[in-house]
Amino acid sequence: MRALSKHITAMPRSGIGGIMDIAERLQGVVHLEVGEPHLATPPHIVAAAIRALQDGFTRYTPSAGLPSLRVLLAEKLRARNRISASPESVAVTPGGVFASAVALLTVAGAGDEVLLPDPGWPNYGLQTMAVGIRRVPYHLRPGRGFLPDLDEISRLITGRTRAIFVNSPSNPTGAVFPEAVLAAILELARARDLYVIADEAYEDMVFEGHQHSLGICDTEGSVITL
Ligand SMILES: Cc1ncc(COP(=O)(O)O)c(C=O)c1O
Repeated sequence: MRALSKHITAMPRSGIGGIMDIAERLQGVVHLEVGEPHLATPPHIVAAAIRALQDGFTRYTPSAGLPSLRVLLAEKLRARNRISASPESVAVTPGGVFASAVALLTVAGAGDEVLLPDPGWPNYGLQTMAVGIRRVPYHLRPGRGFLPDLDEISRLITGRTRAIFVNSPSNPTGAVFPEAVLAAILELARARDLYVIADEAYEDMVFEGHQHSLGICDTEGSVITL
């Protein structure tokens, strides 16, 4: 049999996928395992999706997304996240998995190193493995409130490091990084000439304190916000 990519064959099976397969076969399972809330999609969003299909929005769009949507997303980033981004620097992707893959491939390639939170969302690690980027974990320890240790991150950076993934609010810990921690990460990244990929998928799931966007103080294009 012809060989498959060595990077792909080295990838472990997703643990969460295995648990979901088991849950599929059982009755009355309460799902706590994937990153979506139990709430139904709000009716006005369902209605808008149906209307768009009926109105003929079923064709190719520009690769970076509908220009009118990118304008609205830039406006949302300004109003909600205090991130100043032009519509031209916003790209639409089919979901967060694809967004993190595109961000990663934009800033790093085979042989480079990327810093990843540990514990963290497994997809970051799988995506780096798939293209031969070296995963370098930085720890989020319970004793520190699951916040990163900036000295540890600094020590892990080498001449091959290209980017740091930051996920706040965090999956799986739920920690919301304070603004000062985010600012310190950005400062470190700038000083060491790295990109930060800030995954803020859970920005609206904050039960204590406030979520801040890492890209607020980004004046040099160092941050890719997902
Ligand atoms: C940290 C994190 N980012 C992003 C996503 C969203 O990915 P998607 O929109 O492709 O479901 C998830 C989903 O589990 C996640 O846990």
